[in-house]
Amino acid sequence: MHGRTAGLGPSPGPVLAGETTVRHPEPSFGFPVADWSENSLGGNGIRSAVRISTSPFQSRFLEVLMSHEVNSVAVIGAGTMGSGIALIAATSGIDAFQVDVSPEQLERAKGYHAKVLARNVEKERMTEGEMVAALARITYVDSMDAAKSADWAVEAATENPEIKAKLFATMRATFPDHAVLATNTSSISITQIATATGDAADRVVGMHFFNPVPVMKLVEVIKGLATSDETVARTVALAERMGKTPIPANDRAGFVSNRVLMPLINEAFCAWMEGVAEPEAIDEIMKLGCNFPMGPLRLADFIGLDVCHDIMMVLYRELGDQKFFPCPLLRQLVTAGRLGDKSGQGVYDHSR
Ligand code: 3HC
Repeated sequence: MHGRTAGLGPSPGPVLAGETTVRHPEPSFGFPVADWSENSLGGNGIRSAVRISTSPFQSRFLEVLMSHEVNSVAVIGAGTMGSGIALIAATSGIDAFQVDVSPEQLERAKGYHAKVLARNVEKERMTEGEMVAALARITYVDSMDAAKSADWAVEAATENPEIKAKLFATMRATFPDHAVLATNTSSISITQIATATGDAADRVVGMHFFNPVPVMKLVEVIKGLATSDETVARTVALAERMGKTPIPANDRAGFVSNRVLMPLINEAFCAWMEGVAEPEAIDEIMKLGCNFPMGPLRLADFIGLDVCHDIMMVLYRELGDQKFFPCPLLRQLVTAGRLGDKSGQGVYDHSR
């Protein structure tokens, strides 16, 4: 581990060591994004992304970060992911606008924020004063216009390309020209989303958080075809400031996380469908044998069976490989409205 940089971004440790090649990314890896652009669509992009570059980029990197300090973030969408992102912004000392057109959704987000922060106080992870300060940093608004002073926007709305296109066109028109326009999409192409922003495509980036946002350490940072190195560097820095570990991936369907996770979940459904074992046994086997915190079927309920299904369809369509096609049993459960935790029933019964 390398020392931190007082909230300005990744550690200079490996950079000062000069030109080195490492196979595995350090958790803090901001500078290698310089190499990333050279190979943004190349098959070995990830490996090249960890080649350490020397100081000219470091200076430019710090210059960029200093010139665009992030004081406030607009989080578009107050669902599970959006409310988590607004919360970690606030607990990291950044003002957050929680934006949603639904008053019910905003109320739910407010309740969630209060509950998680109260739990943090109870567990002595923060003081009562810090809790009050964090809550005061979040402003709940029903339009982007009311958040237009934000110098960062992250979209966490419905996973639908048409909706995202409309939102990104509005984001482009609403937020200042220095604002990064990030999306928390789990599988839609960043390059495609960026087309809705015209000449601002260089400021569009994937900032993929994981559920539950306050607990999960990863932010997958995805560079679209037009995303600038500066935007990537700033995204890495903001994710680190939020206490997360940013890791880069190129803009291919499902990026890394869902490209690997979804076939695993799908295979668990196929194993169940074929009678290899019952869901409880499949999940226990994966928990006890592979140290998963929850088994793949339980995780599918947690993510949402419809969400898993839709991501698999994006993978199938974009990558053209039959292995991504959703298992018939998964399709059937979705058709029946058994969507997991959120509908009270999925693989398991969550109604009690
Ligand atoms: N918000 C905030 N904190 C939460 C939380 C939430 N929604 N859910 C759990 N926590 C906290 C709890 O408060 C608890 O903290 P504390 O006791 O120290 O105060 C801690 O997390 C552990 O929770 P629990 O004791 O209730 O339960 P578990 O130990 O089983 O942990 C879990 C719950 C963290 C969800 C764990 O089961 C887990 O890590 N599961 C895997 C989650 C995962 O894989 N997420 C990624 C999904 S894929 C994705 O998001 C990408 C998308 O594109 C599909």
